[in-house]
Amino acid sequence: MFKTYRKVLLSIFVFSFCIYITAQENLLINTYNRSSISLNGDWNYIVDPYENGFYNYRYEPFENQTKPGNGAFFINAKPKDKTDLVEYDFDLSDVIQVPSDWNTQKENLFYYEGTVWYKKSFDYVKMNQDNRVFVYFEAVNYQADVYFNGEKLGTHIGGFTPFNFEVTELLKESDNFLIVKVDNKRKKEAVPTLNTDWWNYGGITRDVKLVEVSNNYIQDYFIQLNPKNNQQIRGFVQLNGTDISEKEILVSIPELKINTKVLTNEQGIASIEIKSKKINYWSTQNPHLYTVILTSESDEIKDQIGFRTIKTSGQEILLNDEKIFLKGISIHEESPIKGGRGSTIEDAQQLLNWAKELGCNYVRLAHYPHNEHMVRLADKMGILVWEENPVYWTIAWDNIETYKNAENQLTEVINRDKNRASVIIWSMANETPTSEPRNIFLTNLAAHTRKLDPTRLISAALEQSNFEGNATIRTIHDSFADVVDVLSFNQYVGWYDGLPEKCGQITWKITQNKPVLISEFGAGAKVGLHGDKLTRWTEEYQEDVYIQTLKMIEGIEQLQGFSPWILVDFRSPRRVLPKIQDGWNRKGLISEDGQKKKAFFILKNYYDGKNASN
Ligand code: GCU
Repeated sequence: MFKTYRKVLLSIFVFSFCIYITAQENLLINTYNRSSISLNGDWNYIVDPYENGFYNYRYEPFENQTKPGNGAFFINAKPKDKTDLVEYDFDLSDVIQVPSDWNTQKENLFYYEGTVWYKKSFDYVKMNQDNRVFVYFEAVNYQADVYFNGEKLGTHIGGFTPFNFEVTELLKESDNFLIVKVDNKRKKEAVPTLNTDWWNYGGITRDVKLVEVSNNYIQDYFIQLNPKNNQQIRGFVQLNGTDISEKEILVSIPELKINTKVLTNEQGIASIEIKSKKINYWSTQNPHLYTVILTSESDEIKDQIGFRTIKTSGQEILLNDEKIFLKGISIHEESPIKGGRGSTIEDAQQLLNWAKELGCNYVRLAHYPHNEHMVRLADKMGILVWEENPVYWTIAWDNIETYKNAENQLTEVINRDKNRASVIIWSMANETPTSEPRNIFLTNLAAHTRKLDPTRLISAALEQSNFEGNATIRTIHDSFADVVDVLSFNQYVGWYDGLPEKCGQITWKITQNKPVLISEFGAGAKVGLHGDKLTRWTEEYQEDVYIQTLKMIEGIEQLQGFSPWILVDFRSPRRVLPKIQDGWNRKGLISEDGQKKKAFFILKNYYDGKNASN
């Protein structure tokens, strides 16, 4: 009797849990291991600052018209004869690379913010006539209006998370044309909002794929350890199609000799609960990944999944129930190889190799979800990951559309990375000013995240303040600090706040009984510029800020790690000091052309001397 009751309870838990997760219509996960063809490469493009290809001269959207006419760029119109008037032609237009941003590809688009139309033509013969086909975008910054063979597929908002649309009914064997209107205009109500300290790279910035799946395919799954019982693998698998209920799905983990059959309910969801006493737990020392195979009647998908638990206990962070110190660094998603928005596995490898060389076991991916290569490589390399939603500085807290947008971007990254062992922390925001609307906004995001994923920790990069008005004692006075699992904050004593020696005058009084992470500290330095340690922009000044800060923060009892700002110099339109910044934020420990600054070795020595388990 009790057994069935518990079974029912579990299925309600898992059922509500996955209804919630699959709020995103049909988002395919793990396209890494699905049969797909790449649509990367040359795309034709048209720069359209007046959105002339989207609106008629009355500024009415063509796509709302039954007969939009030749003016609508998504029609990809061609003159029918010499008399026909068509005032654009994608095939005669210049080409641009996908994935990448337009800013670093085309000099005249370096500062461009607005609409650019992309067009890709291709032929495609399905492997099986009954199969379904989706066009999958890893990311497009910022708003993507997507059209296929002249039909609107849909719109996606948010520059750093994946989305897909089904094209099965519209697909032809030849001469298909996929058109994307990409608009990266900054807006007050957007996420992020008008002001950021990073370059607003526009374009189809990550891979584009055509993914073919069977009629009833495995759309989604969540397979992780139960945080409360590390001998239990738990989760769900979700089918999508017309015949998905009462279906058997085989969950195989050959290395653990696990072959468990689970049964889907009416919604095509099967809950997974598997016991195993032989799990080789994933950790930074031992990033062991298991091949997990899900096989249904008409579909099979493989993934490489690590099993570990991550939790807090008082002031400690526990990885597999062992205390861990997070030796981290913050990273922006810029390509250290070709510049501009990073997107390739080589970009990710270079950045994580540098982090490893620095002695890191942890990275903060700022301030938005990075590409999937990053987290999959971190899984393989045994590097723990903080992922962040681009709720940055002062967004429109009381705008419900802004909230939905922020929640949707969070849902998409959690959906994409929920099976990655390396990802341990979901960050809700960075440096947001405390107010009631903001507190409600972030608290709702945290509640949403806990529902989607009860296996990971929640945090946010908060701001520090004076303790009871005493500027030499710093504290965290922020009601959102009561909501997070890990208390994190940014501090710049020695750079924005006094000179390096000021670190010696500051003490910290953090009242929350939680693990503390310092999500940012640092200073700017122009590589190769040398002088005394009080001269701004010299490597010696930056070096001294690191020396003084590392001493100062030792005094924080709850300190369990940090991620200094930042691994590599990065582009920012806010950084205009000639001969020093020239459009770059210079707080990197490595310059944009790969040269290590003195502070790199200060931090490396500190990490090499720091045993992560104490
Ligand atoms: C802030 C912010 C970063 C910014 C950094 C800086 O703390 O979070 O995005 O780049 O400071 O000023 O360099």
